[in-house]
Amino acid sequence: MRLKRKKRDFTDNVLVPTHIGVIMDGNGRWAKKRLMPRKLGHKEGAKTFKKIALAGKSMGVKYMTFYAFSTENWKRPKDEVDAIMKLFEDYLDDVSSFEKENIRLIFIGDRSALSDVLQEKMKHAEEISRDFDSMTVILAVNYGGQSEICQSVRKIAKKVKNKELGIDEINEELIEDNLYTVGIPPVDLIIRPSGEMRLSNFLIWQSAYAEYYFTDILWPDFTEKDLKNAIETFSKRNRRFGGI
Ligand code: FPP
Repeated sequence: MRLKRKKRDFTDNVLVPTHIGVIMDGNGRWAKKRLMPRKLGHKEGAKTFKKIALAGKSMGVKYMTFYAFSTENWKRPKDEVDAIMKLFEDYLDDVSSFEKENIRLIFIGDRSALSDVLQEKMKHAEEISRDFDSMTVILAVNYGGQSEICQSVRKIAKKVKNKELGIDEINEELIEDNLYTVGIPPVDLIIRPSGEMRLSNFLIWQSAYAEYYFTDILWPDFTEKDLKNAIETFSKRNRRFGGI
């Protein structure tokens, strides 16, 4: 009997990043190209989010942070903002999808501006998924990196004022411990589709040593193959972390 040679897995040949950050950009342009309302682009983008999170999990990525709504996105028409919020709610109503996949869900950002219903659903999803350990999906909602650092500094300043902390005790670790992402490893790879090449206030502290991967593909068209390309590119980079 002829033995079948075992097909090599993609992950046999690459270094898989522990933490990937994704800027889900290009939904509006994707819809415009099809003469559709922008909100349908976001709906398609939400489907891509689920697909790519699962693809990441199957490749062994342990943390994936998706930029879903920035502190600046409130400037968009109300109709578009409402449609995005509704997509979050619909996703959270289908808790069984990440339960089934053993995926932990965490939200980062300022929740106070979100509806009570959404805040409640976010809390519930975080609670029920607390012990799921195949992968952690972090959704950045009403998130801004600069404001995240400000709120960390405010918390620390309060402690200094109350004499619970000395000024010399303020260091990188302490600032990190007061970020939304406390306990989550730094970002290794940031992926931004749609041809834009900027960070847009996303994980600015956490990406200090991240590698960047840019592609012209619009987020709704982003596939598992594109994720593999990004990881392959990452794998070939020589990360020196300031050393030689
Ligand atoms: C940026 O593209 C995208 C957003 C501001 C919203 C992203 C939100 C989603 C993909 C929905 C997420 C849903 C869940 C369940 C996590 P853009 O609108 O700025 O695109 P454009 O630059 O082409 O106009």
